[in-house]
Amino acid sequence: MYVCSCFGITEKQVREHAEAGACTPRQIASASKAGTDCGSCVRSIQSILGRGACPRREPLGTAAAEPTTTVAEPLVAQSAVVRAVATSAGLEAA
Ligand code: FES
Repeated sequence: MYVCSCFGITEKQVREHAEAGACTPRQIASASKAGTDCGSCVRSIQSILGRGACPRREPLGTAAAEPTTTVAEPLVAQSAVVRAVATSAGLEAA
């Protein structure tokens, strides 16, 4: 079943990206573009991630010792995700 109709991304693909380490909607967007156009799929992606698609995270305190990587994301991707999250949290600007 398609989660992101703008880019034809399925729930299976979102789960595969999550299993590969993309644990936030922003990381899913970086990996697949899902959520970077209209943003209407971001809540569905959040829901999939919240149902255990993402591997268990390390306890606090151990993650800081691991190297982190930063992936440059297009500004439009960030704005679509931020807008969708802000809307769902009732924080949309007037
Ligand atoms: S449905 Fe995913 S960006 Fe539009």
